[in-house]
Amino acid sequence: MEKPNLDWENLDFSYRKTPYRFVANYDNGAWEKGRLIEDDTVCLSECAGILQYCQEVFEGLKAYTQKNGDIVTFRADLNAERMIDSAKRLEMPPFPKEDFLRAVEETVAANKDYVPPYGTGASLYIRPYMFASGIVIGVKPSTKYQFRLFTTTVGPYFKGGAKPITICVSDFDRAAPKGTGHIKAGLNYAMSLHAYVTAHANGFDENMFLDPATHSFVEETGGANFIFITKDGGVVTPKSNSILPSITRRSIMYLAEHVLGMKVEERPVKFSEVKDFAECGLCGTAAVISPVGKIVDHGEEICLPSGMNEMGKVTKKLYDTLRGIQLGEIEAPAGWIHKIA
Ligand code: PLP
Ligand code: COI
Repeated sequence: MEKPNLDWENLDFSYRKTPYRFVANYDNGAWEKGRLIEDDTVCLSECAGILQYCQEVFEGLKAYTQKNGDIVTFRADLNAERMIDSAKRLEMPPFPKEDFLRAVEETVAANKDYVPPYGTGASLYIRPYMFASGIVIGVKPSTKYQFRLFTTTVGPYFKGGAKPITICVSDFDRAAPKGTGHIKAGLNYAMSLHAYVTAHANGFDENMFLDPATHSFVEETGGANFIFITKDGGVVTPKSNSILPSITRRSIMYLAEHVLGMKVEERPVKFSEVKDFAECGLCGTAAVISPVGKIVDHGEEICLPSGMNEMGKVTKKLYDTLRGIQLGEIEAPAGWIHKIA
């Protein structure tokens, strides 16, 4: 294979087919070992559980080309573990961690020419997912499932990359109390689409969802967790049972505390205190850390002191540390980086 001729520096976040994907089926109470295939289509019964009752969970992670040319993944073990938690909540048979990691390894290695070069800002997005492939008509879990994993070359999630975005407080809830907000299930994203389209139609880049029980605490966006920087330079991130435990956010909090020596807090964050923060960012695999410049709550604007022109100084320090580790410019904590090729 040859490196494809792509405009690596100017890629957006979209699907571009790569040659290989991984597939494994679950039947008769067991997962098969799985294999690489070239066919990018899925053939299902019209009555498959995924089509009727939305029994599906997924993950998102990235492969990077590091400064020295190595192709690596970042904390894939945590994605494997989170997918197990997601599957259990939807009564699906967990896909074993070692098979998940092998699927990542084999698929990235097979598509290695599609991992964007170092220094382009692009990466290879890896999308593992599993769904009910068996026939289901009465409401119950399927007895057959399929795990798949594909890759796609991507650039920044938000147009403009590191330029601050404007978000709005949503009128809709993304999750329910004691619901499924803490797992990565497609149904949560279907739930958020109306809010997403409404926000975009009103000129906003994203939503800020508040807690579904009282609408007074900050939760997350449709695809990323929040971090806030206090005026004295600490990092605060919302704690809630109905948000996804972001691997990027957990990594940032670790780096802030243990590498940068910052004060960190994971605690419930009242919406009423957002106006007192100095900086705000959205963090996730796709979002990396995307700065938020303005938050609009039904016409009332909260303008973060970091402004609309560039990422706040502290957010930038966190961003540079995280990216530096992913790209092999800064030494990573043990076990965070796995070399594939
Ligand atoms: N929150 C939601 C709802 C997400 O979809 C994602 C993306 O995966 C995140 C947060 C960030 O999680 P991670 O950093 O593990 O990608
Ligand atoms: C990710 O960051 O990997 C996600 O799954 C978020 C999604 C909105 C693209």
